[in-house]
Amino acid sequence: MAIEIEQPSVRLSRIAISDAHGEDSPYFAGWKAYDEDPYDEITNPSGVIQMGLAENQVSFDILEEYLEGHSEAAYWGKNKISGFRENALFQDYHGLHYFRKAMAKFMEQIRGGRTKFDFNRIVLTAGATAANELLTFILADPGDCLLMPTPYYPGFDRDLRWRTGVKIVPIHCNSSNNFQITPEALEAAYENAQAINAKVRGVLITNPSNPLGVTIERKVLEEILNFATQMNIHFISDEIYSGSVFSPNEFVSIAEILEARNFKDSERVHIVYSLSKDLGLPGFRVGTIYSYNDKVVTTARRMSSFSLVSSQTQHLLASMLSDRKFTEKYIEKNRERLKKRYQMIIEGLKKVGIECLRGNAGLFCWMNLSPLLQKPTREDELSLWKTLLHEVKLNISPGSSCHCYDPGWFRVCFANMTEKTLEVALKRISNFMEERNKKGNNFSSQ
Ligand SMILES: Cc1ncc(COP(=O)(O)O)c(C=O)c1O
Repeated sequence: MAIEIEQPSVRLSRIAISDAHGEDSPYFAGWKAYDEDPYDEITNPSGVIQMGLAENQVSFDILEEYLEGHSEAAYWGKNKISGFRENALFQDYHGLHYFRKAMAKFMEQIRGGRTKFDFNRIVLTAGATAANELLTFILADPGDCLLMPTPYYPGFDRDLRWRTGVKIVPIHCNSSNNFQITPEALEAAYENAQAINAKVRGVLITNPSNPLGVTIERKVLEEILNFATQMNIHFISDEIYSGSVFSPNEFVSIAEILEARNFKDSERVHIVYSLSKDLGLPGFRVGTIYSYNDKVVTTARRMSSFSLVSSQTQHLLASMLSDRKFTEKYIEKNRERLKKRYQMIIEGLKKVGIECLRGNAGLFCWMNLSPLLQKPTREDELSLWKTLLHEVKLNISPGSSCHCYDPGWFRVCFANMTEKTLEVALKRISNFMEERNKKGNNFSSQ
C-alpha cells in the first residue's frame, strides 16, 4: 500500500496569492448576487435588478441599424477597405492605421471639434482596463503611488495596483463641496503619500467622474495640472465617459487645456479612452492611450502586444466610426437618451424623498441615502446595502466600495436595462421607503 505523504502546496507567485485585486469588495459581491438570481420580467420577476453595472444599452438599435445597412463593415471579400487575408494575417501592434484615424476623429467629434488628436499618438489596447494598467506600468515602479480623487471607480484597485505593485493614495473629496477636488485635498494626499514613503508618480482623474456622474470644471482641471507641473508628476485623465455627457458643452477635456497652453508641459499628460461606454461595446474590448509624451507612446505601443484589439474588430469599427453622418446622429441621440434616463431616475427618487448629486454625465447617478443611516458609519452603510440587495432586490454599489469618505452614498446605474425594468426598480425603492416610513429606521439585514 502506498504511503500518503503530505505535500506542501506548490508555490505560486506573489501576484497570484495577493488579494490586491479587490474582488472581495461589495461592488463585485453584488454582481455575484445578481448572477445567482437575475431579474427577468417573465421568468424571474422577483429577482435582483442589476444597477451596479455601468453598461450602456440605450442606443443598441442605432448601432444595429447601421450594421444592417452597411454590410461592408463586416465584409471580408476582396477590394473593400481591406480584405479577409490581409486582416487575418495582420499582427502589427500599431493597429490598423485607418482605425486609429477613425478613433482620433471620433474623439475630436465627441469634444465638439474643440481639440485635435494625432492618430500617430493613438495606442490601441483591450479596453480602458488594459490602458490604465499599461500606463501605470510605464509611469511608476512597484511601491510608488498614484494620487486619486475619491470616490473612484472600484475597478481601479485591481487595474492600477494588483499586477503593478503600485499604490493608490486617495485625494479625499466630500459632500460638503459636492465632492470637488481642491488644492488643499491634493496637497494633503501628497503629504500622506510622503508619510508612507511612497514616491508620487502622478495623479489620475476620471472626467466625467465615475461614480459621481459629473464633469470636472475647467478651473479644477487647471489647478490639478498646475499641481502636477509644480510637483513634476504625471497627469492621467480617464475620459471614458466623454461622449456620455448630456450637454456637449459641459465637458472640458484636458486636451483642450493643453491646446490653450500651447502644449506647454504636455509630456506629463496622458488620456485614456475606450468604446465600452459611449458606444456601449465593452465586449469588443477597444481602448486607447493618447499620450503627449513620445517615449510613453513608444513604450505603450510595445506593451500593447499583451492586450491587442483583434483586427476583425478594428476593421468593423473603422467602417462605422469613419461614417461622419452616422457618428453625428449616434452621439446626439445617445446623449438625449441618457439624459432622459437620468431625469427619469432622479425624478422617481425625488418623489420618494431621495436626493442625488446633480449630475450631467455618465450611466449612473450618485444617490444620497445618508439620512437613512442610524449612525454615519461604513458598517451602517453596508447594512443598508445588504437590505437593498437581499430584500429590495436591487444591486447598487455602496460608496465605501468607491472609497467614498462620507457614508451613505450609493452609485445607481440606469442605462443597462429597459425603461420598463427601471420603472420596476423605482417602484421597489418607493415601496421600501414607504415601509421604512411606517416602521421607522429599522432596516437591518443579516
Ligand atoms: C472610469 C473607468 N475606467 C475604466 C473602465 C474600464 O473600461 P473598459 O471596459 O474599457 O475596460 C471603466 C469601466 O467601468 C470605468 O468606469
